[in-house]
Amino acid sequence: MVSTMKELSDYDFFDPEFLVCPYEFYKLARERSPIMELPSPKANAKLFLVTRYDLAIEVLKDTSRFSSNFAALLVGQAEPDDELQLIYAQGWPQANTLLTADPPEHERFRSLVNKAFTSSRIEKMHDSIQQVVDESIDGFIDRGHCEFVSEFAVPLPVKVIAQQLGVPPADLPQFKRWSDAFIALLSHLISREQEIQCAKDVVAFQYYFRDVIESRQKQPQDDLITDLVNAKVAGERPLDMVELLSIIQQILVAGNETVTSAIAAGMLLLIKHPQQMELLQTDFSQLQNFVEEVLRLETPTAGMWRVVTRDTKLGDVEIEVGSLILVRFDAANRDPAKFAAGEGCDVRRPNASSHLSFGYGIHYCLGAMLARKEMHIAFQRLLLRLNNVRLAKDGYQYLPNVLMRSLKYLHIEFDKVA
Ligand code: HEM
Repeated sequence: MVSTMKELSDYDFFDPEFLVCPYEFYKLARERSPIMELPSPKANAKLFLVTRYDLAIEVLKDTSRFSSNFAALLVGQAEPDDELQLIYAQGWPQANTLLTADPPEHERFRSLVNKAFTSSRIEKMHDSIQQVVDESIDGFIDRGHCEFVSEFAVPLPVKVIAQQLGVPPADLPQFKRWSDAFIALLSHLISREQEIQCAKDVVAFQYYFRDVIESRQKQPQDDLITDLVNAKVAGERPLDMVELLSIIQQILVAGNETVTSAIAAGMLLLIKHPQQMELLQTDFSQLQNFVEEVLRLETPTAGMWRVVTRDTKLGDVEIEVGSLILVRFDAANRDPAKFAAGEGCDVRRPNASSHLSFGYGIHYCLGAMLARKEMHIAFQRLLLRLNNVRLAKDGYQYLPNVLMRSLKYLHIEFDKVA
């Protein structure tokens, strides 16, 4: 009899079709090779995939063995290109802040930026987030159907962040273009003409925010950008222009697509589990736990890089200095050793919030509180105002990507609650 059981070597991790549904592979990998060597994108560095919850935490906790300074990876192949360099020379240089910084530098950036991302600042955003949510729903509710990604999940975080960074509604289209340009540059999948356009967008973004920063320095307002610009910590130098621009850039990159992806994935999860949707509609007290379950199961930031700083051993695998580690949050989040029946969706799961979707340790997501608030308000208003939500004819499609899990589109139909 021929066995149909797949082997780990049968899977191609970088195959776009595979990336849409890697969970069978993860199950095998966690059991047989939780630190698995893969073909590396860099000739002189090995690449290891980490899929178990406990091992992911071991890597994320130990910043001296596993560095976040993977900026060289993110900026690409660094081939000298005169035209690009000329464009970038007109702006401010890129700095290594937060996401790609290691201790001790990371500590200074994080303590200053934490002054802006406080719970009272996020609490103050409640009404304006709800207003953005309701206006989006007003835009499609009478139609009985919509394309949920572009009509709801994309505009929500973009509008919320824009408001907090002092960008008026009239400038939203260019703000969204800048945000997309940063993401496109990270993808490495753009043509040279697109790269030139993205570089121009980056510089335009810098000049725009230089003006916003200077205006907040002179005239403080009640918003996040003012808190950021004026953040002070005893014994630390305040953030300078280059650092502020880098942090605002990271907020756009890290805070827009992730929230879009989480909200769209949450809606699809509800459609696939109508009983859970019904349960939430009758008992809103479970809503926060549902948000955690969406983050656990759909893990918008599916993985993140670390660079090995010295020869070391992880689990029982010897790893050379300079190797790359790809920590798979999406695999750890379904580890049955941590989450009972981890593949299933259960809005009442007692430990749903132990997921690693916001990372772990010193790089734990700066925007976690804001993301949770946006998701909570979004689902509360959607579940109150729409009934019988179902998939429409054109359905949905995922966008394959190694680091991000996101939906390209999601067509839904629903009944308007009278
Ligand atoms: C559902 C939405 C979100 C998800 C899934 C997410 C995920 C993550 C993850 C996994 C990390 C850790 C990366 C690492 O360890 O290398 C992280 C860090 C970060 N996130 Fe988020 N994020 C979300 C929303 C946001 C928002 C709304 C913002 C800002 C407004 C934001 C800003 C950041 C920043 C600046 C960092 C770097 C923090 C540091 O290195 O100290 N994120 N995020």
